[in-house]
Amino acid sequence: MIQALILISAYLLGSIPSGLIVGKIFFGIDIREHGSGNLGATNTFRVLGKKAGAFVTAADILKGTAAASLPLLFDAHVSLLAGLIAVIGHIFPIFAGFRGGKAVATSAGVLLAYNPLFFLLLAAVFIITLSISKYVSLASVTAAVTALIYAIIYTYYTEDIPFLAVVIALVFFVIYRHRANMIRLKNGTEPKVGKNKKK
Ligand code: G3P
Repeated sequence: MIQALILISAYLLGSIPSGLIVGKIFFGIDIREHGSGNLGATNTFRVLGKKAGAFVTAADILKGTAAASLPLLFDAHVSLLAGLIAVIGHIFPIFAGFRGGKAVATSAGVLLAYNPLFFLLLAAVFIITLSISKYVSLASVTAAVTALIYAIIYTYYTEDIPFLAVVIALVFFVIYRHRANMIRLKNGTEPKVGKNKKK
C-alpha cells in the first residue's frame, strides 16, 4: 500500500509543469506554443530568458531528486522506480494535458538522488558537449548514451540489475523524445544555443 502511494505521489510530482506555470503566471504564455514547442528547461530559456530557464531547470531536476529521494528511506529500488515514474509524469503530465517535456532534467534529478557521482559525470559530459557543439539536444543525447555505457559497466561489477533497467528506460525516453531533434541535427537545421527555432 505504501509503495503504491509513493509511486502515485511520484507521478503527480513529476507532472508538475514548471515551465507552463512560470510561462503562464509571469509571462501570460504557454511555452508549448513558442520556440520548439517543448515543455522543458531548454525551451524556457529560449522563450522566456535566463532567469525563467534557470528556475525551470532547477525545478525539473528537483522533481526527479525529490521523487527518488523520499523512498530511499524504505528501499533503494522503490526509489529508482519512483524516479522513473516521476519522469513519466514529466513527459505525460496529468496537469498539462499529457503534453510534457523530453525527460532530461528530471532524469538527471533521479540519478542525482541515487548516485551523485554519476550525475556529476553526466553533467560534465553535457556541459562539454554543449560548449563544443552549441546544441542542447546533442548534449542531452550524448549524456544519455554515456549514462547507458556507465550503467552497463557499473552493473557488470555490482550486479545492480534494477539500476540498469531504470537507466535503460530513462535513456529510451530521452532518445525517443529527441527524435525530431536528431532528424534536424542530421539535416543541419537544429538551432544552436541562442538561436530561435520553429516547432
Ligand atoms: O532537454 C531538451 C533539449 O535537449 C532539447 O529541447 O526545446 O531544443 O527541443 P528543445
